[in-house]
Amino acid sequence: MHSGLILGIESSCDETAAAIVRSGSETLSNVVSSQIALHSIYGGVVPELASREHLRNIVPVIREAIARAGIRFSDLDAIAVTEGPGLAGALLVGITYAKTLAFALGKPLIAVNHLEGHIHAVLLEMRERQQAAFELPILALVVSGGHTHLYLASEHASAWTYRNIGRTLDDAAGEAFDKVAKLLGLGYPGGPWIDALAPHGDANDVEFRMAQIKLKNHRTTPSVAVQTSTEIHDRHHDFSFSGIKTAVLRHVETHGINARREALSHIPTPTLADILPLCDPATLGLIASFQRTVVSYLLRGTFAAAESYGARAIVVSGGVAANRELRTRLTAEAVRRGLPIAFPSLALSTDNAAMIAAAAWPRLQRGVFAPADLQATAQLRLGA
Ligand code: KG4
Ligand code: ZN
Repeated sequence: MHSGLILGIESSCDETAAAIVRSGSETLSNVVSSQIALHSIYGGVVPELASREHLRNIVPVIREAIARAGIRFSDLDAIAVTEGPGLAGALLVGITYAKTLAFALGKPLIAVNHLEGHIHAVLLEMRERQQAAFELPILALVVSGGHTHLYLASEHASAWTYRNIGRTLDDAAGEAFDKVAKLLGLGYPGGPWIDALAPHGDANDVEFRMAQIKLKNHRTTPSVAVQTSTEIHDRHHDFSFSGIKTAVLRHVETHGINARREALSHIPTPTLADILPLCDPATLGLIASFQRTVVSYLLRGTFAAAESYGARAIVVSGGVAANRELRTRLTAEAVRRGLPIAFPSLALSTDNAAMIAAAAWPRLQRGVFAPADLQATAQLRLGA
């Protein structure tokens, strides 16, 4: 009989992370070593640098997770690792370490999809708060720097199934935040800067229009579509963020970006107090309008999907789930509709390994293990 102790390992992008979680419901340790400072000079993640940093950090991060949990390697019941999606070279570092450790300890190896991990971050924290489990199916909005996906998630006898009912056709939501911030001469990652600056601007300043992605018969016969065609579903809850990025670009040129870049380049780690005086009302209005538009768009798409699929609850996860306007407005709309909704804490919104260990627990219960020759899958999909 095992005690459900799982070591989770995550290295899909720019965070090297390890965590110990017991039975998908109790986090004993959660260690994240972020490479943000390293990549911020380049304004985005540089894959080769990411792999090198993961190599440097993986051993100390895992040792720290074991030490903080107050356990020994031999106490573990399984090793879980992110299989994909992500940067191939970065994923490989975590996978190679996990395979070696599993082999050396004679423990099972569990492969976890990073996107499934983001969903389980929310479920883990609900269990930690001893909150009653949501009724199924759950609609999950996963919004991060690499992904904008809508999933319908269900569980039966510890087997979770996911159906992908929407995705971005171009940029991810977080990528749009990052690119707009970059266009405005703000730091990387840009989401937290936009989040912090938006309340200082007038969201009615600029009117942006988001892409309308529809399928021809969606509006007229949604109930027929629900019953007969998965293809219609797959399409009509999709997102697109490239248009708004271009629209922002058109506005940007005139708003003192170079002066701001120059001023900020002299401050090693700028704070809101440093940046705010460098932003004129037009820039702040642009930021507030951008955020308002993106949040409205995500809100409309999420609730439309929840309605067409009869979701009983909503979970929102991924880096962009940290956004305050997104949290406030999605929560208000869910309350209005009587739909339960949950977000992860800020620490579990962005990449971490507790979510990987939590997502692995149902597999440990069912004895679903990865082969000893597990490979990284950069484009790994979740669900049908
Ligand atoms: O989940 P995550 O850590 O990594 C990926 O799997 O991509 O997400 C990082 C993304 C970045 O694009 C970052 O700008 C965005 O999440 N982000 C935010 C906020 N905090 C992080 N976007 C909007 N508002 C925030 N507060
Ligand atoms: Zn992520």
